[in-house]
Amino acid sequence: MAGSTFTLIEAIERQADSCAHIGSPLYAGLLTGLAGDYLSGGLTAELLEGVSDQPVHDAVPLRYLATAHRLALAGNAPDLAALYPSCGGSWHGGDLTDVFLSAVAVHRGEFVRGLQRNVQTNEVGRAAVLAAGFSTIADRTGLPLRTLELGGSAGLLSHWDRFGFSTGESSTGDPGSPLQFGPEWYERPAPHLHAAIRVVERASVDVTPIDVSTDEGRLSMLSFVWPDQLERFQRLDHAIAIARATDLTVAEADAGDWLGEQLTRPSDDGVATVVFHSIVWQYLPAATKDAVRSALSAAGERATGSAPLHWLRMEPATKEHADLRLTTWAGERDPVEQLLAHVGYHGAGVRWVG
Ligand SMILES: C[S@@+](CC[C@H](N)C(=O)[O-])C[C@H]1O[C@@H](n2cnc3c(N)ncnc32)[C@H](O)[C@@H]1O
Repeated sequence: MAGSTFTLIEAIERQADSCAHIGSPLYAGLLTGLAGDYLSGGLTAELLEGVSDQPVHDAVPLRYLATAHRLALAGNAPDLAALYPSCGGSWHGGDLTDVFLSAVAVHRGEFVRGLQRNVQTNEVGRAAVLAAGFSTIADRTGLPLRTLELGGSAGLLSHWDRFGFSTGESSTGDPGSPLQFGPEWYERPAPHLHAAIRVVERASVDVTPIDVSTDEGRLSMLSFVWPDQLERFQRLDHAIAIARATDLTVAEADAGDWLGEQLTRPSDDGVATVVFHSIVWQYLPAATKDAVRSALSAAGERATGSAPLHWLRMEPATKEHADLRLTTWAGERDPVEQLLAHVGYHGAGVRWVG
């Protein structure tokens, strides 16, 4: 059956399955209860019916859950917050459906609005593999970096060097950062992390950026994480705090147009430019992909050994893992492409092959 022809109940059941498989028993159980409410014509049916004719593609069940999570995080659904670990509550496996539906009944208008909001995440764990990719570039060039991020969402991964990383054998980033990625992120043999990488310029773009400097943006971003995935939630919270202490604003534009403009200005001599992205390529329209490729190849022709251009990307390879790839233009005739690592979709289990 094609994705666009799934019914709402199938969307809810598929989401419950997927939450059960990828580590959210709380949402798996809750969605099962909400499927029952939907089938009996309850509030879930009243609110979700008609929101989208592609309920799987538009992640309608997750929009519903995120709206409740946002209310709980903001202190407006205290009974739910008392059960959500992300809000300081605790959950012992009981059925949450009635508590959830009580919040829906009280905040119906907020749910109607929340169901129109796209689910948008920014997966901070991907920094572990990206830091290893940036290390490879720093090892090879010895140059400071200008980083240009495509599809940055809230731009949190553009702050990767403000997080700390250690494989146990080498480390990079900020050892004093509240956000640390330890050896458990890297399989053996681990990549070499370059100790002293300097980012001299950074910029990020997204077609619909989330501005985490506002309370609204912060809450929105946090609400899309599942409440019982506490470590992921805390990583995101730390990254948001780090981003809020800086003045990086994610530009609102199409990645292709933006990159074309950014790369018309060549990097200073003695600076390596790195265009990077993670789990973005599949979302770009064909014209944007073409624009990105042609901006890279035009800038690549001007690149030199002392002002090289790099394209670092973590993008899907199989159902289980993504690949980190690096293409380099450094003044030779042809760019050089290399597979650096396999990695889980949320950034865990970096398997270095570079
Ligand atoms: C799955 S998210 C990944 C976000 C982030 N890179 C990460 O790894 O967490 C994909 C992002 O691509 C952005 N996007 C989609 N089409 C785009 C376009 N044409 N130009 C810029 N960004 C786009 C979306 O808005 C979304 O934030």
